[in-house]
Amino acid sequence: MLKLLVAIILTLGVADQPLVASWSILPARYWVKIENGLSKDILDAHCIGGGKKITDLGLQHIPLNSNFNWTFKSELWKKVAYNCNLTSPSNGHLYYEAYENDQSFEDRYCGGRHCTWKAADDGLYLYHDKKKRYIRLGTWDKP
Ligand SMILES: *[C@@H]1O[C@H](CO)[C@@H](O)[C@H](O)[C@H]1NC(C)=O
Ligand SMILES: *[C@@H]1O[C@H](CO)[C@@H](O)[C@H](O)[C@H]1NC(C)=O
Repeated sequence: MLKLLVAIILTLGVADQPLVASWSILPARYWVKIENGLSKDILDAHCIGGGKKITDLGLQHIPLNSNFNWTFKSELWKKVAYNCNLTSPSNGHLYYEAYENDQSFEDRYCGGRHCTWKAADDGLYLYHDKKKRYIRLGTWDKP
């Protein structure tokens, strides 16, 4: 009986979260990506963040249908977070937190260790890795 129960729990667990690694208290690798899903315009992205050491990722000019991405490891004693400013000539600008090493941020927004943001004409979307869809999280501040 116990064996059967364990088997069922294992099966459910595996079926529920296929290949998506979840939040971990121990240092783990993360990926953040910003996609240009606009109908025209280059997307300018400027992100700054890190943990013990803050890194300026520089001003990035992301062409249409391309992306800018970076990877890093979370830290044991310091929370890693990244903030980004997005600018598009026809839409305006957006300032947001692209990543925070916090379990609720990851579960709620990214759904795992890959946070994929997409800038579109009607706002900013984040791909939820477990729900397998983009969710709109913000709108542009008009210039
Ligand atoms: C983004 O813009 C805001 C307001 O203009 C500024 O305070 C912030 O430092 C900028 N952050 C980055 C990462 O460029
Ligand atoms: C990340 O960006 C590089 C270019 O800097 C690109 O070649 C690569 O395909 C991107 N990775 C993903 C997963 O989109």
